[in-house]
Amino acid sequence: MNSTAFLRVENLRKEFRKKGGTLEVLKGISFTLDRGEMLSVVGVSGAGKTTLLQIVGTLDRATSGNVVYDGQDVTSMPEGKLAEFRNRKVGFVFQFHHLLPEFDARENVMLPCLIAGRGRKTARKRAEDLLSEVGLSERLTHRVGELSGGEQQRVAICRALAMDPEILLADEPTGNLDKETAGGVTGLLMELNRKKGLSLVVVTHNEELAGRMHRVLKIEDGRIVR
Ligand SMILES: Nc1ncnc2c1ncn2[C@@H]1O[C@H](COP(=O)(O)OP(=O)(O)OP(=O)(O)O)[C@@H](O)[C@H]1O
Ligand SMILES: [Mg+2]
Repeated sequence: MNSTAFLRVENLRKEFRKKGGTLEVLKGISFTLDRGEMLSVVGVSGAGKTTLLQIVGTLDRATSGNVVYDGQDVTSMPEGKLAEFRNRKVGFVFQFHHLLPEFDARENVMLPCLIAGRGRKTARKRAEDLLSEVGLSERLTHRVGELSGGEQQRVAICRALAMDPEILLADEPTGNLDKETAGGVTGLLMELNRKKGLSLVVVTHNEELAGRMHRVLKIEDGRIVR
């Protein structure tokens, strides 16, 4: 296995304990990702794609196995350090975007920068630049409930990119988008990859987006089949 890879995932297992017994979702997943590499994750509904992404993004813990970024194993990192690691290195686009409803579009995108201690002015400028790149400069002060599903998804993508992450983990980032808007999001991700070497792990059924990735990881019955 490539020991100098940007990301190394080693023999990940994940079980969910339920009253009726144990559900084994991931049964030993291993792969590596180089800096600037783009990977798509596919598999049927329930295959464990979101579970895998959450563990790789340190939002959930594996039952066993390791996730190593630049030689640093994050599986044993304490929660406080992990939060800082996520804020600085990882951008996460959730399948159901999880925006904060009491805030408007711009504020949602500003949050990661504010959490990191960046000034309000810097955070605001960054948010406005990103939102205008995805065609939302006219929606800055719309609260989440006042945005369409696709607009909310685009705001979520901007929030994930706010801190200039090294890796973007995206769970169906074009899931609610029409073809043209999805194409815009794909274009934005490609540009970030080309200009800044952003690494990508994307769960997607969108053929255009999947087709641009360097590799495909297919999960079946808890294991990688290709
Ligand atoms: N917290 C949990 N407790 C128990 N079972 C869970 C939990 N989270 C997920 N599962 C189960 O694990 C399996 C994998 O779920 P996951 O969300 O990773 O699937 P997915 O591949 O992302 O599917 P989809 O394409 O529908 O989003 C599912 O069968 C799900 O019911
Ligand atoms: Mg999912």
